[in-house]
Amino acid sequence: MNSIFWKLALGLFFFGSVIGSFAELDFGYCERVVNKWADSSSSREEHVNKDKRSLQDLLFFLHVPRTGGRTYFHCFLRKLYDSSEECPRSYDKLHFNPRKEKCKLLATHDDYSLMAKLPRERTSVMTIVRDPVARVLSTYEFSVEVAARFLVHPNISSAMKMSNRIRKSNVISTLDIWPWKYLVPWMREDLFARRDARKVKGVVIIEDDNPYDMEEMLMPLRKYLDAPIAHDIIHNGATFQIAGLTNNSHLSEAHEVRHCVQKFKSLGEPVLQVAKRRLDSMLYVGLTEEHRESASLFANVVGSQVLSQVIPSDATAKIKTLRSEARVTISEPGSDKSNIQNGTSEVALNVTEAKSGNMTVKTLMEVYEGCITHLRKSQGTRRVNSLKRISPANFTRGTRTRVPREVYQQIKTLNNLDVELYKYAKEIFAQEHELVSKKLISTSERSIVDLPGELRNVLGEMGEEKMWKLLPVGLIVILLIVLFLFVNARRRRSSKVKI
Ligand SMILES: *[C@@H]1O[C@H](CO)[C@@H](O)[C@H](O)[C@H]1NC(C)=O
Ligand SMILES: *[C@@H]1O[C@H](CO)[C@@H](O)[C@H](O)[C@H]1NC(C)=O
Ligand SMILES: *[C@@H]1O[C@H](CO)[C@@H](O)[C@H](O)[C@H]1NC(C)=O
Ligand SMILES: *[C@@H]1O[C@H](CO)[C@@H](O)[C@H](O)[C@H]1NC(C)=O
Ligand SMILES: *[C@@H]1O[C@H](CO)[C@@H](O)[C@H](O)[C@H]1NC(C)=O
Ligand SMILES: *[C@@H]1O[C@H](CO)[C@@H](O)[C@H](O)[C@H]1NC(C)=O
Repeated sequence: MNSIFWKLALGLFFFGSVIGSFAELDFGYCERVVNKWADSSSSREEHVNKDKRSLQDLLFFLHVPRTGGRTYFHCFLRKLYDSSEECPRSYDKLHFNPRKEKCKLLATHDDYSLMAKLPRERTSVMTIVRDPVARVLSTYEFSVEVAARFLVHPNISSAMKMSNRIRKSNVISTLDIWPWKYLVPWMREDLFARRDARKVKGVVIIEDDNPYDMEEMLMPLRKYLDAPIAHDIIHNGATFQIAGLTNNSHLSEAHEVRHCVQKFKSLGEPVLQVAKRRLDSMLYVGLTEEHRESASLFANVVGSQVLSQVIPSDATAKIKTLRSEARVTISEPGSDKSNIQNGTSEVALNVTEAKSGNMTVKTLMEVYEGCITHLRKSQGTRRVNSLKRISPANFTRGTRTRVPREVYQQIKTLNNLDVELYKYAKEIFAQEHELVSKKLISTSERSIVDLPGELRNVLGEMGEEKMWKLLPVGLIVILLIVLFLFVNARRRRSSKVKI
């Protein structure tokens, strides 16, 4: 009797929720939900009509995953900002109230909805946008790469035990960071299941060498793209992140809005408009594809402003805090302790020399170049090491040509909003680039006047002892530089400066 009653109640409940979810996804209803969200988003934006080009107290780096933001974080932002200026728990799910913290840098995969928790009028936002097809392919490859590291374990339960142990340590693991905290365990489970299946089968000969379609070894790309989790987290990911509508949003209505947009394509338009307006109001929008130009624009637009904020007398004090304070390290989780250490050393680049307070845009670029070479090398090594575990599958620069045309097209269709947003970001980038280039040309006409100061700064970075030893050589170099600059300055006036 009782059990029949409960079954009936349960049945009614499920019936009700099915009806409910149908009602929820009704077009008219969705249209109201999306438009209401869009209206309140743009009205909130109107208050932020300040000069977008001047850096505010807090820099919010809205880091869209797989856009190369990591190099900006390690090789620019961490060189420019002191660890004490970094908001706590950057890249982790935010559990603190940023309003209360006296921090100047917040770099995170959290979406734009985080702005509601930040002092809006005192916050500058920056982001990097990437071609959506490349971003999605990179997301797939990275999910596989990180998940494959766990294959050192004999079985998934031992892998999970170890990753829980890593997460308890002082290190922020990729497994704590959205979206990887969903994508990696999913891929990991899949890799283990396929490995177990191979063991059961005995000898498995893999003939096809297309890593995007190697079913015996790993989840094929097609399957990855079609999975519900990919629809919710990966497709149109940049637009949703900039609109503040990701699966990780702080805004309670975000999930309904997102589901509506995913269900009814035409409702994507208002979301795209909001995302575009937000790009318009950002301090900096970089492009992954235009790597050198983006880095240079960053150094000139953001870097120069951070540097001019540094109070010279503060410089030595800052270096001291840097040395004594252990930084929170982001590590991509692997299997064992040595991996953590490798993660740490990758991040522990030479920060002290960069923060001397005497850094110029030019030296910032030099520091950056050195840093990315180092970072890329260590990332490359790690990638090769983890992909070894799923050999013969391997992702290299050349393998993306193996992705069939239809799949490219499918990715474009699934990421229609991101395709549009990327086009728009390219326009913004071109404008900003031109603007800064013009400014640089006009300042370069004064560069002869600045020369002694510049040289003093360069020499000031060396130790005094070294300087005495280098004096004769230095004099010759100075003469050569003066000569070079003199000749160059005449040429520069006629040719455009490439930044
Ligand atoms: C998983 O591997 C660990 C370590 O080798 C072993 O102790 C454990 O029994 C294994 N568990 C299963 C379910 O096979
Ligand atoms: C986000 O996505 C994951 C994976 O699909 C899911 O488990 C989680 O519940 C989602 N969160 C929200 C708020 O929708
Ligand atoms: C850590 O780095 C060292 C030196 O670069 C390398 O020999 C070692 O294999 C790495 N360890 C792991 C687990 O990747
Ligand atoms: C960092 O740079 C400074 C100055 O160039 C140098 O003295 C120091 O040894 C470097 N530290 C590391 C870890 O490379
Ligand atoms: C994967 O490709 C990289 C880059 O070409 C190469 O260095 C590495 O050895 C390859 N790995 C395997 C297991 O073949
Ligand atoms: C740059 O370095 C020189 C020499 O070390 C020092 O005298 C000068 O004050 C520094 N300038 C700034 C802006 O820190």
